[in-house]
Amino acid sequence: MARTASARTLDPESAQLCLAALDIGLCVVGRGGDVRYLNPTVQELFEVRSEEILGAPVSELLGLAHDGPLGPEGEVWRRCVLPPTQILTQRGEKELALECRIVPLGRKSRPDGGLLLIEDISESAEEQAFQRNIDRFSSMGSISAVFAHEIRNPLTGIRTTIQFVETKLPDDSALRGDLDDAIKELDRIEQFTTDLLQFARPKISALEPANLNDLIEKVLGNVSARCEEQQVQLKRELTEELPEIPLDADAVQQALLNIIINALDAMPTGGTLRVSSSTRRYRTRRAVEVAVADTGTGISEEHMEKIFDPFFTTRGAGGTGLGLSIALQVAKEHNGRIYVRNRPQGGAIFRLSFRVPDESEGNGS
Ligand SMILES: Nc1ncnc2c1ncn2[C@@H]1O[C@H](COP(=O)(O)OP(=O)(O)O)[C@@H](O)[C@H]1O
Ligand SMILES: [Mg+2]
Repeated sequence: MARTASARTLDPESAQLCLAALDIGLCVVGRGGDVRYLNPTVQELFEVRSEEILGAPVSELLGLAHDGPLGPEGEVWRRCVLPPTQILTQRGEKELALECRIVPLGRKSRPDGGLLLIEDISESAEEQAFQRNIDRFSSMGSISAVFAHEIRNPLTGIRTTIQFVETKLPDDSALRGDLDDAIKELDRIEQFTTDLLQFARPKISALEPANLNDLIEKVLGNVSARCEEQQVQLKRELTEELPEIPLDADAVQQALLNIIINALDAMPTGGTLRVSSSTRRYRTRRAVEVAVADTGTGISEEHMEKIFDPFFTTRGAGGTGLGLSIALQVAKEHNGRIYVRNRPQGGAIFRLSFRVPDESEGNGS
């Protein structure tokens, strides 16, 4: 008999342990949308301590509008129900993609409040975007290589023919100039196909343990003069003591330089360039990241899905459209990631992220 009783109730201490062990965020919310309890997962996710947020509207915790459906007067609290809903929000520089739902506590007809369940889906949301870019990139890469080969072969034939025809013309023939022009155009096509083929090649070679901060400093050293010229204020927010990770330093610097140059290109009349480094723990991995945020034009929805494509540029003759494709390739070959998002306050933010190998997680000091 005693067995049944103990199985039906849980002592408070065990209940706390259970709440702490869950990797889903739990938040008890009153009928007025006020926060009453946060489990450790929520505290970690939002980098907030319970005492800082208890009693405040849950919309504040989630970074949502106070006059929205989850605000203090929000319609959600009439029945304390929210079906699974994706929410994009920010906590400092950290972008969060969350899946939230609310179930009523107590009587359904007149609940005492709600239990908000929060799942961090940032990793999978970002991962999907990255994979889409990689897929586009890979298919374009292989199509480009085939394309380049197919064009090159007949080019050689055409060039030989033109040169042959030229030898048959009298020395003073006006047609010679036309044929020379044709050959120049052929040279352009050949250069283009060489660039295309360059693309199929790997970008990285040996990996050596490196500190991302050192690479960032080097790249910033190279662009500081240009920042000054353009009246762009440079802000560094580097986290000290990043774990070293295996990198091809040259390739990573190139990738970072490409991203930073783009940020400067987006701020021709000045602005702020913020470069930060940090470690971030995702559900399945730990990463070292560098983020480059600008206050420029941002990227239109329509361009967003194409910016990593080789040769996509909005800079006309001034751009090659290769900067981001190279950065993507470098990230991919490191098994790293590159993410982009427009910032709510204007401008774009690019993040380049590298996995911290598991062994250093185990014996980290
Ligand atoms: N920070 C940024 N702000 C606005 N647009 C950007 C930014 N970074 C990249 N872009 C867009 O992505 C395009 C592709 O960039 P990239 O591959 O470096 O080629 P390019 O710089 O030669 O145009 C740019 O033409 C621009 O439209
Ligand atoms: Mg560029």
